[in-house]
Amino acid sequence: MDKSYKLYLFWVVSVCLILNYAELILTEAAPEEALITHLPGFNGTLPSKHYGGYVSFDEKNLFYYFIASEKNPSEDPVVLWLNGGPGCSSFDGFVYEHGPFNFEEGQPKGSLPILHLNPYAWSKVSNIIYLDSPCGVGLSYSNNTSKYTTDDWHTAADSHAFLLKWFELYPEFIKNPFYISGESYAGIYVPTLASEVVQGIKAGVKPILNFKGYLVGNGVTDSDFDDTLTSLVPFAHGMGLISDDIYEDVQSACYGNHTDPHHDCSTSIDKMHDAIDGLNIYDILEPCYHDPNAYKDGKGNTSLPVSFQQLGVTQRPLKVRKRMFGRAWPLRGQLKPGTLWPELAEQGSVMCFNDEVATAWLNDESVRNAIHAEPKSIAGSWELCSSRIIYARYSSGSMLPYHKNLTSQGYRALIYSGDHDMCVPFTGTQAWTRSLGFKIVDEWRPWFSNDEVAGYLQGYDYNFIFLTIKGAGHTVPEYKPRESLDFYSRWLDGKPI
Ligand SMILES: *[C@@H]1O[C@H](CO)[C@@H](O)[C@H](O)[C@H]1NC(C)=O
Ligand SMILES: *[C@@H]1O[C@H](CO)[C@@H](O)[C@H](O)[C@H]1NC(C)=O
Ligand SMILES: *[C@@H]1O[C@H](CO)[C@@H](O)[C@H](O)[C@H]1NC(C)=O
Ligand SMILES: *[C@@H]1O[C@H](CO)[C@@H](O)[C@H](O)[C@H]1NC(C)=O
Ligand SMILES: *[C@@H]1O[C@H](CO)[C@@H](O)[C@H](O)[C@H]1NC(C)=O
Ligand SMILES: *[C@@H]1O[C@H](CO)[C@@H](O)[C@H](O)[C@H]1NC(C)=O
Repeated sequence: MDKSYKLYLFWVVSVCLILNYAELILTEAAPEEALITHLPGFNGTLPSKHYGGYVSFDEKNLFYYFIASEKNPSEDPVVLWLNGGPGCSSFDGFVYEHGPFNFEEGQPKGSLPILHLNPYAWSKVSNIIYLDSPCGVGLSYSNNTSKYTTDDWHTAADSHAFLLKWFELYPEFIKNPFYISGESYAGIYVPTLASEVVQGIKAGVKPILNFKGYLVGNGVTDSDFDDTLTSLVPFAHGMGLISDDIYEDVQSACYGNHTDPHHDCSTSIDKMHDAIDGLNIYDILEPCYHDPNAYKDGKGNTSLPVSFQQLGVTQRPLKVRKRMFGRAWPLRGQLKPGTLWPELAEQGSVMCFNDEVATAWLNDESVRNAIHAEPKSIAGSWELCSSRIIYARYSSGSMLPYHKNLTSQGYRALIYSGDHDMCVPFTGTQAWTRSLGFKIVDEWRPWFSNDEVAGYLQGYDYNFIFLTIKGAGHTVPEYKPRESLDFYSRWLDGKPI
């Protein structure tokens, strides 16, 4: 073989290898057009790749913001994050909880916030997808508003459709362990979606997701366990918010046999509410934020029925009490199936909660352009909790059968509670997790972060854990970011918490 022929062969083989490699990159790479290259308000260098965009099907355009892990994106788990409501945007988690930035209020007030890196971002240890779901929430939208009417089943089916399409767009992540997480009403979204995903895997639906388990924070689960008597009354009593007298009165009025109409269950419950109504239900230790612009005397100018207008009104009304739409559901809202009235949401912003920074950032057109979201003229204004969806709450009933099914099939579960949340108090969650009857394999003990007790946990058979975070409210990482990153990364690693 002469020298030039050898050179020719070498050249041909090299070109083929390069072409193969190029093809590999082309078919295995995340969509270039989704890459986020700059973010208004942030001057530094992004510590990992950020992507944003829509996944569209059935006239629905679901918005996601995806952050590759800062540690080892090709090996670290992919975690889907969902906020609750129903109707609240997962940018709640992104902006206020475990997202990559801390948002500093801009000057003047209401102008663009300044973004600093969050040292406790969950993207430090995982690839994370923030999804606005169902369609109509946050930056997700449809040009056909009849798509804004939905329920638990359709939401789970749509999120599953989203995931299949998302992994097709990002095939390099299909082999990574996959987890589903969320809080509040996502206590419904997470198990129902997990169940859809598992059915899809069993049916051989492609791509096959490497689903491993799920996390739920202060999640609603079951109307018997999460109701006022089982959950809120013992919480309020244990936290010293109601007296022994009120507590005993509620017990005897609601569980006893009283004929005296002045001593019925609802009057006793009202007495408890008089004591706790002024508190911030998302964290009883925090002050309640009163939005000066939100309060309007709505009487005579609302489509709400009178009974709803009266909700939360007491002798000494605080402005915020008028508003009853929350990130899970209102304190006095009913825990039973029913439509979430858009009119209720329109009553004002979320109770006690200042969402100015997120609202300013996500309604800025330069931000939307940078993250590949449609402008307000197409996708609508961003709201922390959307007033445009019509959602049949609790349409899927109790989540207990889902948890039993999923855990018995080998999927890991971490059920955690900020122990100062009065919206979905830990008392109800502790009770339902215990009621599953699983064998205790790690008996109630403190867990530690930074050499301090950070909360308590009880580990059960089937890799099922109930964990509290001491001093945290409804949105746990908002209050305890360091502790949250600790339990999150230990759990994802499969290490003891
Ligand atoms: C970011 O950069 C711009 C332009 O260079 C500058 O005007 C602004 O003050 C910087 N902001 C921060 C927070 O450093
Ligand atoms: C929705 O309608 C607007 C115009 O009204 C259009 O610009 C946009 O592309 C449409 N979105 C989709 C996904 O069809
Ligand atoms: C909007 O969606 C509804 C329900 O999916 C469908 O019946 C209707 O045909 C759609 N309207 C348009 C204009 O496409
Ligand atoms: C209330 O009365 C019913 C029927 O009379 C009885 O079965 C029940 O045990 C009573 N409950 C209490 C707490 O006394
Ligand atoms: C009721 O609301 C409408 C629209 O927001 C406004 O134009 C009208 O003046 C209001 N009426 C009263 C009595 O406040
Ligand atoms: C639980 O699993 C059984 C058998 O696999 C199935 O028939 C049932 O529908 C499942 N229930 C739920 C709530 O997923």
